[in-house]
Amino acid sequence: MSDDTPKVLISEDQIQTRVLELAGQISADYKDADDLVMVGVLKGSFIFLADLSRRLSIPRTIEFIAVSSYGNGSLASGAVRLVMDVRGNLDGKHVLIVEDIVDTGHTLKYLIGMMKSHRPASVKTAALVRKAESAQVDVTIDYLGFDIGDEWVVGYGLDYAEQNRTLPYIGVIKPTDS
Ligand code: PRP
Repeated sequence: MSDDTPKVLISEDQIQTRVLELAGQISADYKDADDLVMVGVLKGSFIFLADLSRRLSIPRTIEFIAVSSYGNGSLASGAVRLVMDVRGNLDGKHVLIVEDIVDTGHTLKYLIGMMKSHRPASVKTAALVRKAESAQVDVTIDYLGFDIGDEWVVGYGLDYAEQNRTLPYIGVIKPTDS
């Protein structure tokens, strides 16, 4: 009998503890800013953004952006396309891009450029996990949850073929196309 339940890589407790730590750092760093805009990258960031934003002790507003990478399956081609831009005005505001995962880094690099075109006061980045070995471009993550190996992870917003996004932990699966 096979068990398809993803194996726990980062537990719910570990995630919640780290999110609280990151929220503390962000709250301290932006304590003098009253115009922090958290920009969640759909779809994967929705749970991390929800938890992180609710643990901040400073004023913040929420925006969403959607991008799509060209390519298929679990292979990233490096080209990124804007699917949905933010709705609000970012001019002069402090932007914090919130990602679930940074893999090659192409998406985050593209997003930083996109955000800068909105003439914000600053642009910083937060990501729950990073696949350090997979990096193809140099991109700064100001608030990082965890470094992981080159594994296919699901849960806490991350999916494989749209499944397992709502797991409370980050688990490892083996993609069927690998
Ligand atoms: C994931 C993740 C990032 C991107 C990172 O999104 O949310 O946006 O891939 O990859 P990169 O560093 O190689 O550019 P995905 O395309 O899986 O979409 P989703 O968030 O809607 O699941």
